[in-house]
Amino acid sequence: MNISHLSNLYGEINIPGDKSISHRSIMLGALATGTTEVSGFLQGADCLSSISCFEKMGINIENNRETNTVIIQGKGLHGLSAPRNILDVGNSGTTTRLMSGILAAQQFSSTVDGDASIRKRPMGRIITPLTEMGASFECLANDKCAPFIIHGGKLHGISYNSPVASAQVKSAILLAGLYAEGATTVTEPALSRNHTELMFESFGADINVTNQGKTVTVRPGIDLKAQRILIPGDISSAAYFIAAGLITPNSEITIKNVGINPTRDGILTVCKMMGADIKYSNVKNDIGEPVADITVSTTTLHGCTIEGDIIPKLIDEIPIIAIMAAFAEGTTIIKDAQELKVKESNRIDVMSTNLKLMGCDIEPTEDGMIINGGRPLHGAVIDSKLDHRIAMSFAIAGGLADGDTEIIGAECVNISYPHFYDDLYNLAR
Ligand code: S3P
Repeated sequence: MNISHLSNLYGEINIPGDKSISHRSIMLGALATGTTEVSGFLQGADCLSSISCFEKMGINIENNRETNTVIIQGKGLHGLSAPRNILDVGNSGTTTRLMSGILAAQQFSSTVDGDASIRKRPMGRIITPLTEMGASFECLANDKCAPFIIHGGKLHGISYNSPVASAQVKSAILLAGLYAEGATTVTEPALSRNHTELMFESFGADINVTNQGKTVTVRPGIDLKAQRILIPGDISSAAYFIAAGLITPNSEITIKNVGINPTRDGILTVCKMMGADIKYSNVKNDIGEPVADITVSTTTLHGCTIEGDIIPKLIDEIPIIAIMAAFAEGTTIIKDAQELKVKESNRIDVMSTNLKLMGCDIEPTEDGMIINGGRPLHGAVIDSKLDHRIAMSFAIAGGLADGDTEIIGAECVNISYPHFYDDLYNLAR
């Protein structure tokens, strides 16, 4: 895919549904009793992987791809049946880790596998606590990696201090905790996204959150009740248009219906730190998750330092933040973000290599990167490494660079944002 010069991005845009909430809607819908109706579901390949895995376990799921509504006939906590085939998670880390928490508690064994990227991602972080709860894992290729067989069984509650601030780890343990004997508690070093906790509450689970959100306890013995779920637009997808509106000359973009949950809004804080004026309108909170329309316009940004507890609140947005930093005046330092190395690609390496190819002054560090912004960028051939967030970030950078940019593997945006390029070009005047 070739990206040519873009300017004057102007108009309104509706972004697709939140990926994290879409996954959780399928899983909790499957485990609840009754019919769960979901609207605003993300039709990205990752969420479709979650659907197909639960269908393989006997759950009837009707997905209307025109209206983005999904109807799940939940069978209750003990209604899943043994899958006849491998559970293929595709590229989806969220499917792998959250579903493993559920599989750990089943009276059957199941095999989980995914694509080349999934096979490299660390699974020790869920294998350790789920094994402590009573499940057992057999890794079929490499230690602590997919593919693996999960032998589920009777679990007991644990009190777990997670070494990483990861919503996937936290959620896997909490899902297993729905089935365990006694209470299950997870404490994380910094607050990660809390969509699982919010959805547990609305489905009626016995959950208790303390320690400014960092400690969560779930107790078993309550049947989940089917819900209506209205999924807001994904702030991680909105981030590309927020950045584009700020750094593209003569632009003003309104992004409608964006989920602005405080555990996800680090990108907005960073834009403000860099000098942006973010305008909110239609702010609502009638679905358990706060939502707003966001308007941004062209701004001269300046560098800043991003570190500490804000990192989990913007972990998926660091690639596009790096692009903003490349166009900002002064230095941006990103620290405490070593988790970037174990995402869909090694995002520290891939961002630095590719931004350097475009003429940016960027240095990778052990836990982040240092970017001296303000140099004009030129077009280049960018290898996305099939990482959707890398492809979308360089589409925005390519639009601002001199000359054409070619993105290799550009179609990987399908993972989280199937119509991304159309939406971007529709804003160009
Ligand atoms: C997610 C959590 C994050 C994020 C991922 C989605 C989730 O991963 O990077 O895209 O839905 O729970 P970690 O929790 O492992 O950091």
